[in-house]
Amino acid sequence: MARQRPGRAKSIGLGILGLGVVGGGVYRALSQKAAVLAERAGGPLTVEAILVRDLKKGRAVQPPPRLLTTDPKDVLGNPRVDVVVELLGGEQPALEYIQEALRSGRHVVTANKDVLAKHGAQLLALGRERDVGLQFEASVGGGIPIIGSLLHDLLANNLTAVYGIINGTTNYILTKMAREGLDFAPALKQAQDLGYAEADPSHDIQGTDAAYKLAILATLAFHTQVRPEDVYREGIERLASRDFRYAQELGYAIKLLAIAKAEEGAIQARVHPVFLPQDYPLAKVDGVFNAVQVEGDLVGPLLFQGQGAGALPTASAVVADIIHAAKDIRQGGPATPLPLLNDSRPVRPMAEVRTRYYLRLSVSDQPGVLAQIAQVLGEQQISIASVIQKEVYEEAQTAELVIMTHKAREDAFQEALRRLALLSVVSEVGNYVRVEG
Ligand SMILES: NC(=O)c1ccc[n+]([C@@H]2O[C@H](COP(=O)([O-])OP(=O)(O)OC[C@H]3O[C@@H](n4cnc5c(N)ncnc54)[C@H](OP(=O)(O)O)[C@@H]3O)[C@@H](O)[C@H]2O)c1
Repeated sequence: MARQRPGRAKSIGLGILGLGVVGGGVYRALSQKAAVLAERAGGPLTVEAILVRDLKKGRAVQPPPRLLTTDPKDVLGNPRVDVVVELLGGEQPALEYIQEALRSGRHVVTANKDVLAKHGAQLLALGRERDVGLQFEASVGGGIPIIGSLLHDLLANNLTAVYGIINGTTNYILTKMAREGLDFAPALKQAQDLGYAEADPSHDIQGTDAAYKLAILATLAFHTQVRPEDVYREGIERLASRDFRYAQELGYAIKLLAIAKAEEGAIQARVHPVFLPQDYPLAKVDGVFNAVQVEGDLVGPLLFQGQGAGALPTASAVVADIIHAAKDIRQGGPATPLPLLNDSRPVRPMAEVRTRYYLRLSVSDQPGVLAQIAQVLGEQQISIASVIQKEVYEEAQTAELVIMTHKAREDAFQEALRRLALLSVVSEVGNYVRVEG
């Protein structure tokens, strides 16, 4: 095919669904960088219609009013639209609109982790069937180019692990707790006051958002369908300022880590707080930043780090996807085949996962206590790596013990917790955190 000269090539029509934080950033980037983007896409990118909910809403960007519509047909049934850019968020009607766009032979770019995590396999199959692209770089890690790396650049590898700090809200809260000695509730309040956490922060702090993103990463890394419900999940609400104090004393940082590992015949997929050695690169990713570490048999460890949210970082990923879609259209179909999910390794149940643990207990300050605790742990095949007696509360005649274990099975550890809580010498099982690295 003869090379088309920029400016002479047919314009690629874009239909944008949503003009919020990300939609606004995408529109701004497309407008302000039109010339350079046209050069890179091999021809102009023209916004033909933008779907919103409320035409009268004040917005950070001001497209010509004729482009705005509240009728999805003006985008999905518009003959000038070649690429549908879905930036609505949430499962419905986004899913329905993406399906309609793919069925009508339009390429789709989306930033929607909920739809991708729950319906990605089905949508990829639909795209393959209709020979159109489905691009979703912004669905995980905002501006970090992790999806494209998994889909293209790392294809020569058998990937063995993916570790991610992929929720900025929780990383901001944990960083506050670590640096300022705050407990969870005041750290969350600060994050909400600064707009880093939503009024209802449950999706973030309970680890659901990270679990959706991990489902997408694990699916691509291991070529097998990992659903959100396959991902074991715990949030950050149980963490207390003293856990951070003890972690620091022991040489660890606490992070909400999304972990996907390939093992013999199975994979692990879990999101929960972890103790990470302070000298690990991921332990130093602070504030709202995101990072993903990938390990491959050829490439070894790789670390991607950057802004996981925000209008312009996310627009960086969305607009790059639009350029790829435009090039695919000019070349007459998806240039790169959509990923095949043809590996059948199951996700290992959390009960069978083996990790090390940090355990904080309040116990009676009297002789023989440690022997009783060691016995309960020993009966569950859990061996103790170290025990440190922290605070002693003389009035209550209790002391706080911090126990670090060697690797143990999760179900055995949970049973030990249940039995420890029944011991008369244990006044409280304060907290436990799994240890990685
Ligand atoms: N925000 C980030 O930093 C970020 C980062 C990575 C990925 N993402 C993903 O990007 C997507 C968009 O997020 P966002 O933060 O831009 O959301 P947002 O600010 O809430 O914007 C959503 C936009 O969609 C429109 N909309 C929503 N439902 C609609 C409906 N049923 N019909 C018509 N219009 C509808 C809204 O219209 P009105 O303006 O009229 O209300 C609004 O313009 C989500 O999937 C999100 O997970 C966001």
